[in-house]
Amino acid sequence: MFRSFTFRIGAAIFLLLLTLLICLRFFSYLRTVQSEQQNIRQIILAHDEEIEHGVDRNGVRYATYLVDALTNEPDDRHLLLAMKSGGVVHGNLKAWPVELADAKPGWYEQGVTFDHSLKPVNALLYLKRMKGGQSLIVGYDLVRLEQMKQALVEALIRDVWLSVFSALCLTLFILYLISRHLEKVNDAYRHVMAGEIDFRVKAESSQDEFAQLGRNFNEMMDWVSSLISTLKDSTNSIAHDLRTPLARIRLRLQQLEQREDLQDAQRDALLECIEDIDHLTDIFNGILRIAKAEDLSIARQFEPIDLNAMVHELAEFYAAYLEGENQGILLEAPSETHYVMGERQLLSQALANLISNASKFSPGQHDIEITLQPSPVQKGMLEIIIADRGPGIPAEFREKVKERFFRLDQSRNTPGTGLGLNLCDAVVRLHKGKLMLEDNDPGLKSIVLLPEHFGARVTAA
Ligand SMILES: Nc1ncnc2c1ncn2[C@@H]1O[C@H](COP(=O)(O)OP(=O)(O)OP(=O)(O)O)[C@@H](O)[C@H]1O
Ligand SMILES: [Mg+2]
Repeated sequence: MFRSFTFRIGAAIFLLLLTLLICLRFFSYLRTVQSEQQNIRQIILAHDEEIEHGVDRNGVRYATYLVDALTNEPDDRHLLLAMKSGGVVHGNLKAWPVELADAKPGWYEQGVTFDHSLKPVNALLYLKRMKGGQSLIVGYDLVRLEQMKQALVEALIRDVWLSVFSALCLTLFILYLISRHLEKVNDAYRHVMAGEIDFRVKAESSQDEFAQLGRNFNEMMDWVSSLISTLKDSTNSIAHDLRTPLARIRLRLQQLEQREDLQDAQRDALLECIEDIDHLTDIFNGILRIAKAEDLSIARQFEPIDLNAMVHELAEFYAAYLEGENQGILLEAPSETHYVMGERQLLSQALANLISNASKFSPGQHDIEITLQPSPVQKGMLEIIIADRGPGIPAEFREKVKERFFRLDQSRNTPGTGLGLNLCDAVVRLHKGKLMLEDNDPGLKSIVLLPEHFGARVTAA
């Protein structure tokens, strides 16, 4: 998940949005605090000016009166005034701050105690010397600013959470939109890879990149499908057309081989040629049978087939065939009939291929076990299991052996074309089933899953 492109895009959008929102909130916090500090300075300077004018016009006594009058105003409990004249301190401070006893005029931030309170408070102070030699402190307590700062920090934290939540929602929504569109194309790829070469992405009327991606995928698959079918058609017609000349050559070789004036070496060579031609004919027949199994229109000719009867017939045939080989068939099938919809010849050929493999690759060692039963894991499916005790197929080759002409190195000396499992797989897929090759510990267990046809049983009853 963390490696997925959509996840990384989502995470990037999320972080970007979050950083942006946090920066915005932080700058608005700084601006609010700064403007409040500015306000306080202006209040302080306005009072300072008022006192200075009063002193200029009416002398120092008026200033002391003004300081006392201003600090007694109930409206402004945050204003702080102190005037030291000849050792006497006027104003609303409990005492002249020790730290400012000999301080130079200017701005200070420091703790002071109002005469109406017990606890010291933090305040912004402006200290100046007046013309008459008095010292004046005009200040403003910072309680309100600190409360405001605290409220702003709380709002900032709340906003961060809110931003995280909204950025997350937005990101998830964008991710949903992207992955919904991508999933459609991915799903189409999965279907095609599973063999449904005709699967296409549902057409969308919009002109966006995703709709375009879907259309391009469909066009590409149309082109690939037409290439594949042209290739298959030509392979099939080659296989078809070569069968007659091959049969003719075989007949001539056979006639030649029957001549009496031949030496043994010549006869052996002719027999080898006939064997090779038989092998070629097997390959061509195999290709044509696979072509038939891959032709989906065959499904229109499907009829109900009694699978139980078919498995019995095959078991009997192979039991007789293997009698001389010291190998038997053990059949386990339910007493009641089970039907599938299908093409009789193809299905019988597919099962025969598996039984023939089981016998071919574990000759005369152990009996071959054939089981027909309703699948215990997949409801509505029947399973036919063909198990042998031969060398089996290593796990990494169990899909590969279903490909055309693929044969394991260990089987090079056993006759065969490498088309049997490919045909079986094509037939089973034509019947909407599945061919699975598993370990029989030791040996191979081939499992064919086919959808059961229930309608037929009702009609047959
Ligand atoms: N029961 C089995 N035990 C061991 N290996 C097997 C078994 N069935 C198939 N194989 C391996 O898979 C390969 C492909 O099987 P497939 O049936 O397609 O071809 P084949 O049997 O060699 O030839 P054909 O069936 O065309 O005569 C075989 O060559 C063999 O290597
Ligand atoms: Mg085979």
